Amino acid sequence: MRKCIVLLFMMSSFFGYTQSRKELTHELENKKINKITKWTSKQIDYKVDSLLSLMTLDEKIGQMYEIPSGMGSVADLGSVEDQADPKYYQRKGWTGMVLGGSGALKNYEIQKYAVEKTRLGIPLHFNVDVIHGYKTIFPVNLGMACTWEPAAIERAASIAAKEATVSGITINNAPMVDISRDPRWGRATEGVGEDPFLGSEIARAYVRGYQGDDLSDRHTFISTAKHFVGYGASEAGRDYNTVDMSERVLREIYLPPFKAMVEEGVGAIMPAFNIVDGVPCSANKWLLDDVARGEWGFDGIYLSDFNAIHELVLHGVAADDKHASKIALDATMDIEMVSQGYILNLKNLVKQGEVSETQIDASVKRILRSKFLMGLFDDPYRYMDLKGEKEIHCSKEHLKAAREIATKSMVLLKNDTVQSLGKPLLPLSDNYKSIALIGPFVKTRNLQGAWAWGNSKKVVTVESGFKNRLGDRVELNVFNGLSPRKLTKKDMDEALAAARESEVVVLCLGEPQGMSGEAASRAELDFPGDQKEFAEEVLKLGKPTVLVAFNGRPLIFTWYHEHFSSILEAWFPGTEAGNALADILFGDVNPSGKLTMSFPCHVGQIPVYYNHLATGRPYDSSKKKNRFVSKYLDIPNDPLYSFGYGLSYTSFAYSNLKLSSSKLKAGQKITAELVVSNTGEREGTEIVQMYTHDIVASVARPVKELKGFQKVTLQAGESKKVTFTISEELLKFWNRDMEFSSEAGDFEILIGGSSRDGDLLTEEFLLVK
Ligand code: BGC
Repeated sequence: MRKCIVLLFMMSSFFGYTQSRKELTHELENKKINKITKWTSKQIDYKVDSLLSLMTLDEKIGQMYEIPSGMGSVADLGSVEDQADPKYYQRKGWTGMVLGGSGALKNYEIQKYAVEKTRLGIPLHFNVDVIHGYKTIFPVNLGMACTWEPAAIERAASIAAKEATVSGITINNAPMVDISRDPRWGRATEGVGEDPFLGSEIARAYVRGYQGDDLSDRHTFISTAKHFVGYGASEAGRDYNTVDMSERVLREIYLPPFKAMVEEGVGAIMPAFNIVDGVPCSANKWLLDDVARGEWGFDGIYLSDFNAIHELVLHGVAADDKHASKIALDATMDIEMVSQGYILNLKNLVKQGEVSETQIDASVKRILRSKFLMGLFDDPYRYMDLKGEKEIHCSKEHLKAAREIATKSMVLLKNDTVQSLGKPLLPLSDNYKSIALIGPFVKTRNLQGAWAWGNSKKVVTVESGFKNRLGDRVELNVFNGLSPRKLTKKDMDEALAAARESEVVVLCLGEPQGMSGEAASRAELDFPGDQKEFAEEVLKLGKPTVLVAFNGRPLIFTWYHEHFSSILEAWFPGTEAGNALADILFGDVNPSGKLTMSFPCHVGQIPVYYNHLATGRPYDSSKKKNRFVSKYLDIPNDPLYSFGYGLSYTSFAYSNLKLSSSKLKAGQKITAELVVSNTGEREGTEIVQMYTHDIVASVARPVKELKGFQKVTLQAGESKKVTFTISEELLKFWNRDMEFSSEAGDFEILIGGSSRDGDLLTEEFLLVK
């Protein structure tokens, strides 16, 4: 039998089943792009139905299977008749989608096979994790969130979409919008931070950027909202761990970004690995069908997470893969990523009457529909663009955007006056004759962060960024510390020598990029290895020293805060890292980023977040002697750096907060107006934040909740009026009866430059219903 197949394969090669790279390139380069027909929704339904009526059950189930990458070469496809091998299904045309990016040419080859060699020639989707850029890498998502600029994030997403689609990618596994209050969880780096309001605005921006106005545009693709839901609340910050929370917390904190994306028309959702109320999300009918499809009207695709249907067995909610497939399909899960529960079991489940073919049809319709929307039936090759790859990947315009967004993502955490200088160290003066650039992050190109497919050779190192900025004018004493995990005595001595010879020191420390992201939970949130010891030695030299931190999540900077006069959080800035850093450090760009996740002062505080609920025994710092209040004996309650915090090279003052009325009638609006002034000596951008507090309600409410923000640029000495609108809608919450509504009564409004009490002006108003 095997011999026969090998022979058949050889014959098929002979008859043109395999082509050389050169032939394929030539063919693809000369392909005309077909025009897209703008079908109405009804017409698409009609087309989907007629295609469905031609499909066998195997072909239908095949559409629900996503094979891993590397299975695609036509040359690979001939010889295996083994049901465990994904290639077998691809050859039969029993595959709907391929996971993994291999570029336009490879994807063309795979698509050509699907279109020309399978019975119905249904085109494939190509699916990749384009998380913070495709080839041009933007800062890690947590950093991008710190821009508080949805328009900038939308731009980054649309650039990523453009770069990825020319390589043939049609579905993106992003954005990840899991709210996270636990920096031990490495995936916090992929997210938006701790706040559901800001997180929802950012989530919408990603969807707009990835999907644009029209999915059939050659430069837009389907966005997948992930991970639905609660993954960021993994117990003890340990990835893949269990999750437990009330429905109220789920609805108020974790669901809003997903709901916002559904409103924005997101095409796909990826259910999370974890459980919600005991049921893993991949089989959670309440969550997937009742809430998202039922309450919100989501009619897109559910794409499972990697292997997640099989993992239902390990969760202990399914006896085997067959059972797992049944409960996932019952929850309306459409596509199984990589594991083979569906492809191996759904047919039997239909035969045995355990699931109905109608359920399968519903999923297949959603999948086919998405392919029509992407124009794949008009032209299956329209996204594979070799010329586009050359022209668009890392284009000048894209790199410029990456540099700009990286500067906006950096957060100035401290910049106190240095006695010897009589002013803060930052921005660095252009008059220094020598600067020491030391630490393990100075020469490395590993500054892209987790989930980055960019070419690391294109990354601008910190050293190159400085050289680009300074030329030969300044003596740069660079020390290339090798590994951040282990600094040898020799390395340190060399670095200290470089520092000794210089007027100022820029010390680049951090957490290697592989220490955040998936499966990267940490219990100790410090710079690993001997970096602290190294910092101590550097500080002993008594030189003005700025600490630049590269990390993917909040770390504990308490010791550094006590010892350094200036600290800049640079995150992982992406392809333009060094240039963006030089822009900020030399003051060509004034820092404006603000934190979207609290930086604890000690790991023992975790989870620590600004919008915590009121308690019966709140801590009052003016009454230190009261023991029986909610506090620690050994550390403060407040984080080191709070949500919304971030400094600038100028200063801002807030005054004259006034409400248009002290009463808000249901269904109406009032405004809050205040004056923001730039009280420093240079232009700067401030992120003005509005919080509300429901003083008495039927359930305990957060001490404050973000409900609005604006980015305002002010010249030195300039003042501007800033106005926020407050509507009843903003004051709604899940009340004691689990209805989403507002309650009449007193509210506090707090506006200022961070979530810290001391940074906020307050007023009160009454909601009358
Ligand atoms: C991750 C997803 C990702 C998928 C495919 C999984 O391990 O949890 O976020 O989209 O892999 O790469």
